[in-house]
Amino acid sequence: MAERFEPKILCFCCQWCSYAAADLAGSMRVQYPTNVHILKVPCTGRVDLTHILQAFEVGADGVFLSGCLLGDCHYIEGNYFATTRAKRAKEILKGIGIDPARVEMFYNSSGMGPQFAQCCTDFTERIRQLGPLRKQKAVAAAAASQAQA
Ligand code: FES
Repeated sequence: MAERFEPKILCFCCQWCSYAAADLAGSMRVQYPTNVHILKVPCTGRVDLTHILQAFEVGADGVFLSGCLLGDCHYIEGNYFATTRAKRAKEILKGIGIDPARVEMFYNSSGMGPQFAQCCTDFTERIRQLGPLRKQKAVAAAAASQAQA
């Protein structure tokens, strides 16, 4: 029997709203997949494009950022910067033959524990459907070398 693919997912979570939402989900005993590994950051605006790409380089199958609601960032416009970087990361992934759906930006206030858990569940299912990144990378590399031949 084939084993079910369990994706590795990194979530950059801002400490003010989304991390509190994750905490609330835990306090409320709302379950979400253990595939999601949370990395607390001061603000999603602190997450650089290279941080997102490096996460894939070291083995993540999917990466999402979870910040404050738009207009509520504690550093005024950090989540707007993060939104732009997530879009740019999608473009780069697409350019190298990797599905851009492997990156996403979400917004969760500190009171949105169940919604945060739902983001984790939905994103994990999305990445599970896409399959392992290493497999997709191999297909993209084979297609590139085929095109050069
Ligand atoms: Fe939460 Fe900026 S402090 S996204």
